[in-house]
Amino acid sequence: MFSTDIYVQRRTALMAQVEAGLILLLGHEEAPMNYQDNAYPFRQESSFSYYCGLDEPGLATVIDIEAGTTSLFGDDLSVEQIVWTGPQPSLQEKGQGVGITDTRPRAELKPVLERAQAQDRTIHYLPVCRGSSVLALHDLLGLEVTQIKNRTSRALIQVVIAQRSLKEAEEVAEIEAALELSHMMHCAAMRLTQPGRYEYEIVGEIEGQVLAQKTRQAFATIFSVHGEILHNPTHNNLIAEGDIIVHDSGVESPLHYASDITRTIPASGKFSAQQKEIYEIVLDSQGAAIEAVCPGVDFRDIHKLASCRLLGGLQQLGIVKGDCEEAGEAGAHALFFQCGLGHMLGLDVHDMDGLGEEAVGYTDKVQRKPAFGWRSLRLGKSLQPNYVITVEPGIYFIPELIDQWQAERKLEQFIDYAQLSHFREFGGVRLEDDLLVTDTGYRVLGRPIPKTIAEVEQACSA
Ligand code: GLY
Ligand code: MN
Ligand code: MN
Repeated sequence: MFSTDIYVQRRTALMAQVEAGLILLLGHEEAPMNYQDNAYPFRQESSFSYYCGLDEPGLATVIDIEAGTTSLFGDDLSVEQIVWTGPQPSLQEKGQGVGITDTRPRAELKPVLERAQAQDRTIHYLPVCRGSSVLALHDLLGLEVTQIKNRTSRALIQVVIAQRSLKEAEEVAEIEAALELSHMMHCAAMRLTQPGRYEYEIVGEIEGQVLAQKTRQAFATIFSVHGEILHNPTHNNLIAEGDIIVHDSGVESPLHYASDITRTIPASGKFSAQQKEIYEIVLDSQGAAIEAVCPGVDFRDIHKLASCRLLGGLQQLGIVKGDCEEAGEAGAHALFFQCGLGHMLGLDVHDMDGLGEEAVGYTDKVQRKPAFGWRSLRLGKSLQPNYVITVEPGIYFIPELIDQWQAERKLEQFIDYAQLSHFREFGGVRLEDDLLVTDTGYRVLGRPIPKTIAEVEQACSA
């Protein structure tokens, strides 16, 4: 946990910015894997974690804005439960650790909310991502399950996003702690990858190293010779000579902040001439995008810049033709770069996505573009100091997409399909780093992880 003051300050700021009513922060329950007593590793709801710091299931906090009070609801373990779980700090002790002195049994939560409803007071709550939380809100607030989503508090969502977007120094330190483990994981992956091994063997070894540091992955590791499959959760392929592997993984810090790093590895330890060509284009695009990170700049303009650099590089290879600016305007980049350039990073790898992608990444002024090659960009709005973001351009040769575009003769004034056919089975390249937006520009977070061709080849042979 952070120091008590941090949680008190966060809740005080929250209370000051929501006009009236009660704020209900609902923690997560255990999530059963196949039956109630066999649960997935517990993961706290991120906003509950942010404001209340406690990492156990079955908790909820109510902030009464007019009364200026904060109450923590939960249950102490019975002796019979302790037989199975061992002792735990009492609810009162847990509350004290995060500056909440009013602690009450969970059974008192519903009457408190019912009383507020009877007085016509607003109960603000955030969107929830788990079925168990939907059912809890249904029970606590008497709302139909289908109403739960529509009745979330817009005011609360906005305040929470504004607050969680600006990372405190302690949060940045957590992300950097996660990045230290990412460094270890990525260097190990470069060292261990070899033709003749299965992807899952490498994943097992590198994830084991993370477990051995008393933490876990922040999301399902992507480690695939089919790097063109953007979020590929499987690791079943046999690694062959000449393959190129996209490795995108992240680790949770002790307080559950995420890192999110991608490197691309040549299976045999040396990039082929063709792999070098594509890799250098992505490296150039990422470098240009990182350089452009600065407060006041719309991130969607950096997405455009990165896309243009990719198109410029592909033009050098004869895959793209004509004016790159025009090709980008027409959406030609989407044949190679279908996703977004990056996203916010924090307690969630796609930070605060659970609160709504639009609300996190866009504003009334900067709205999401619906076109393919734009619509998956999670963050479009203007950058501010203390945002933590990822910058992750890539080139992905997706055979099914190439075939479709070619059959439709789509944008053939900008794409040389004959030249592109030489890259049809290439796979993909992605490079991803995590940045803090500073007052004047940016700082790439964490210890540098091998990235240039020379650095990666050296790390592969270490
Ligand atoms: N690991 C998913 C992403 O980079 O967004
Ligand atoms: Mn990412
Ligand atoms: Mn990633």
